[in-house]
Amino acid sequence: MAAGAPLIRLAVFGQPITQSLSPRIHRLFAEQFGLAIDYRAVEADTDTFRDRVSALAAQGGLGCNVTLPLKREAWKLAANRSLDADRAEAVNTLLFREDGWFGDNTDGGGLVDDLENGLGTGVRGARICLLGAGGAARGVLAALLKRGADRIVIANRSADKALQLARKHADLGPVIGIGMDALPDAAPFDLAINATSLGHHGRAPELPAHLLDDDGLCYDMNYGTAAEPLKDFCRSRGIRYRDGLGMLVGQAALSFRLWTGKAPATAPVLAAIRSTPAGRD
Ligand code: ATR
Repeated sequence: MAAGAPLIRLAVFGQPITQSLSPRIHRLFAEQFGLAIDYRAVEADTDTFRDRVSALAAQGGLGCNVTLPLKREAWKLAANRSLDADRAEAVNTLLFREDGWFGDNTDGGGLVDDLENGLGTGVRGARICLLGAGGAARGVLAALLKRGADRIVIANRSADKALQLARKHADLGPVIGIGMDALPDAAPFDLAINATSLGHHGRAPELPAHLLDDDGLCYDMNYGTAAEPLKDFCRSRGIRYRDGLGMLVGQAALSFRLWTGKAPATAPVLAAIRSTPAGRD
């Protein structure tokens, strides 16, 4: 670390937050540039969030990450927002600017980065099935469409929610919403992305047979214990599988760049994080 480098104050707010991997990821990023960083995981709920973020800004903080269940609160709190954040109605990154806080959503960019650079799986021209239509799906849909997916089919337990989400993004590319039960008729896909919350209840979405082409990929936005059910399912069916740890590191890298103007290398950080048991961000 460069002697006398000014301390960069950052934090991630959420609930629960004690298991967050973000402090470690950002410490590893900062080391790449010899930056001095103080990045904390701070517990907050919808009642305390605004005061805690304000306190960080008052202490000279540069910005913060925001995770569940506060991404919508953060979106409301930002004076200015990126187009991706407005599409998702969710902010995972705040930058404290003199003229008002800027809110961005780097989740979709992190996913695309992990797919394309981490895995070599191109999004452009891919037939994609997005499982789920909640906050996790909303956070990544715009980025996938803007990257040039051939088509995206959003499949959700409640077909209505999938239809609404598709309608809201129709101007960005070919996207439709369907109920989970209609999924077999929409197959095959090159890529299936699990954006449901089932993994947090020890379950995997029921992927119909032949959902994916032979060399297709099942990408789980979960990691750690929440990723185990779908990982096990895919292993038992011989389906290529990837958990969401690379997306976590990818979205963190985009946040880091927004705050510092520096683009960290993600591969060594992902390797370091993988070598220890994962928690929940
Ligand atoms: P998140 O912010 O993690 O996306 P969410 O907004 O509550 O959480 O969305 C959870 C997603 O998982 C939704 O797509 C939800 O389907 P519904 O919209 O029909 O509720 C999906 N999900 C949750 N439990 C499910 C279950 N038992 N079977 C199928 N899908 C489920």
